[in-house]
Amino acid sequence: MTTQAPAVQKQAKAPPKRAEQALARFHEEGALQAYDAKNLVRLWPFVRPYKAQFIASLALLLAASSLALLRPLIMKAGLDGIGKDPHAITRAGLLLTLVIVGEQAIAFPQMYLMQKVGATAMATLRRTVFEFLHTRSLSFFDRTPVGRLVTRVTNDVDAIGEMFASGAFNAIGDLLRLVVIVAVMMSMDWQMSLIAFAALPVVMIGVNYTRKRIREAFSEVRLKTARMNAYLNEQVSGMSVVQAYAREEEGAREFDAINEAYRQANNRSIVWDATMDAAIELISSLCIASALWAAGIHAHSERVSFGTLFAFVAYIDMFFLPIRDLSARYTLVQSAMTGAERVFDLLDNKEEDAPVKPDQKPETVSPDAPAVELQDVTFGYKPNVLALKDVSLHVARGERVALVGATGAGKSTVLSLVLRLYEISSGSVKVFGRDVRAWDRDELRTNFAVVPQDVFLFPGTVATNIAAGDKEPDMARVRRALERIDALDLFERREDGLLAPVRERGSNFSAGERQLIAFARALYKDPDILVLDEATANVDSDTEARLQRAVEGALKGRTALVIAHRLSTIRAADRIIVFHKGKVVEHGTHAELLVANGVYARLHALQFAREHIAEIGSHSSKAPAVTESVQVEAAAGEE
Ligand SMILES: Nc1ncnc2c1ncn2[C@@H]1O[C@H](COP(=O)(O)OP(=O)(O)OP(=O)(O)O)[C@@H](O)[C@H]1O
Ligand SMILES: [Mg+2]
Repeated sequence: MTTQAPAVQKQAKAPPKRAEQALARFHEEGALQAYDAKNLVRLWPFVRPYKAQFIASLALLLAASSLALLRPLIMKAGLDGIGKDPHAITRAGLLLTLVIVGEQAIAFPQMYLMQKVGATAMATLRRTVFEFLHTRSLSFFDRTPVGRLVTRVTNDVDAIGEMFASGAFNAIGDLLRLVVIVAVMMSMDWQMSLIAFAALPVVMIGVNYTRKRIREAFSEVRLKTARMNAYLNEQVSGMSVVQAYAREEEGAREFDAINEAYRQANNRSIVWDATMDAAIELISSLCIASALWAAGIHAHSERVSFGTLFAFVAYIDMFFLPIRDLSARYTLVQSAMTGAERVFDLLDNKEEDAPVKPDQKPETVSPDAPAVELQDVTFGYKPNVLALKDVSLHVARGERVALVGATGAGKSTVLSLVLRLYEISSGSVKVFGRDVRAWDRDELRTNFAVVPQDVFLFPGTVATNIAAGDKEPDMARVRRALERIDALDLFERREDGLLAPVRERGSNFSAGERQLIAFARALYKDPDILVLDEATANVDSDTEARLQRAVEGALKGRTALVIAHRLSTIRAADRIIVFHKGKVVEHGTHAELLVANGVYARLHALQFAREHIAEIGSHSSKAPAVTESVQVEAAAGEE
C-alpha cells in the first residue's frame, strides 16, 4: 500500500480512470463469446450418466403437453353437443377431469427426475472445477482473484443447475404445443386463424430483440457478481490492514460502486424481462379481440359454432402462454448459458499446464545424479521481466546448500521452480536427474517437504496441520516430529494440547508458532529433500532459539536446500550460493567466501557480523533490524 500526501488523497476519492481500468481488467476478463449450443453440448457429458432419467423426464413432459392440448377440444365437443346430445356436457366434464388428473400425475415424476438429474450433474461439475483448480500452476492464481474462482464454483454452477430445477426444458413441450395449436386452429377455421396470427411477426421480432438485451444483462450480472465476491474476499482477508490504515470508508465507497453496478445490471435484466412479459400479454389480448371481432362478422352467416369460438379463444390463450413461457425459459437458459460459458472458460485455461515435452523421454531417476540441479534457468513471472537469469546450481545428495541474497534476488523463485509451481522459459530443472517436466507432478512433490516463507495453516487442530495430507493424524509421529524440533512442550502446554483448534489461516497462533508447526509438518512427512525458506520475521529471543534448534533438528542428515537469513543456518551449510538480482554471483563455503572477499563477505561484514556480535554478547538482545536489501545494494555497489 502506498502512502499518499494529503493533497493527493482528495483526488484519490474518485479513482483515476487508468487505475480503474486496470482493476477492471484484473477482475473482469474480456467479454466472453457466447455460443449457446456449444455450451449445451459441453454440458452433456455431465448429464450423460443419468441419460435414462433425463430422457424419461423429457418423454413425460411431452405426454403432459399433449394432454393439455386436448382440453379445448373436449370443451368444444361438449359445448357443440348442447341441445343435441343430453350427455355431451357430462361426458366432457368427466373427460376433462381425467385429462387434468393425468397431467398432474405426470408432472410430479417429470419434475422430480429432471431436478434430480440437474442436481447430480451440477455436483459433478462443481467437483470437476474444484479438482481442475488443483492442477493449475501458481501463475494462474497470481492472475486470478480468489473471489472469481469461488463465483465459478458456486454462483455460476448454480445458474446452470437452475435450468434443470425450473423446468427450462419444458421449452421443448412449449414448442410442440405451438406447432400443434397452429395446426388445430388452422383446421378449425383458417380465416380466423390468419387474423389471430397477424401479430405474430411483430412478436417474433420483439422477442428476438429483447432476448439479446436480456442475455447482455445476464452476462453483466454474472460479471458483477464475480467482482463483488472478489472484492469482498480481498477486503475480508486483508481486514487487519484495512482497519490499521483506516481504509474502511474508502473500502465502503469502492464496495458501493461495485454494489451499484451489480444492482443496475440486475435491474436491466428485470426491466427487459418485465417488458417482454407485458408486451406478450398485450398482444395476446389484441389477438383474442380481433378473433372475436372476426367471429362477430362471421356470426351473421352462422358459420362459427359456439364451441369452435370457445376452443379458438382457449387456443389463442394457450398459444401465447408457451410464447411467454418460452421467453421466461429462455431467460433461464440464458442465465445458465452465461454461467456455463464462464465455467467452461475457466476449464479451458490449459495453456500454462505444460505437459511432458513430447521430445522429452521420462529419463529414469539415476542413483548418482544430484538431488536438485538447475541448468541455465531463465524465468520471469511476467514476460520480459526476468526474475532469474541463467541460473545454474546443484545440490548433491545429503548436501546442505544455503541460498543467500537480498530481498527480491530470486531465492524463493528457485524453490518454486524446483517444485514446478511455475514453468521455466529456458534451461532445465532436474530432480534426481529427471527433468521436472518429465516427473508426474504429484510424484515429484512427494520427494520434498517445504517450509515456506509464509506459513499457511488450515482450519483444524495443531495435529491435523502437522499431519497435513493424512486423514487421521498419527499422534505418535506428530509427537516425534515436534520432539525433534524441541517444540513438543510448547504445544502440549497450551490448552487442549495438540488438539488445540487452529482457526482460519492460523490466526490464533503467533508467527513463531506457525513456523514451528511448519517445521514439524515437514518432519512428519520425512522427505528425501527438505526445502526451507527461512522467515525473516523477527521473533522473541526464546522463540528465535527454538526456531534455531528446529532448523538444526529438521536438517540433520538430510539433503536440504535452504534460503537462509540467520548466520547460524548459513554457517552450518556445506555450500553457500549467493544471489544478486536474479543471478548467481558467488558460491562456496562460508570460509571460502569470506576469503574471496566478494558480495558475501560484504554482506557478512554488514549484517551477519552484527548478529554475530549480538550472539556472543547477549542472548536476549537482538541486532537492530536493518533491511538486508539496502545492505546488499551497498555491498554490490562497491564492486
Ligand atoms: N508471484 C509473483 N508474481 C510476479 N512477480 C513475482 C512473484 N513472486 C516474486 N516476484 C518477483 O520476482 C523477483 C524475485 O522474487 P523472490 O520471491 O524470488 O525473492 P526472494 O529472493 O525470495 O526475496 P525475499 O528474501 O524477500 O523473500 C522479485 O522481483 C519479485 O518482485
Ligand atoms: Mg523469498
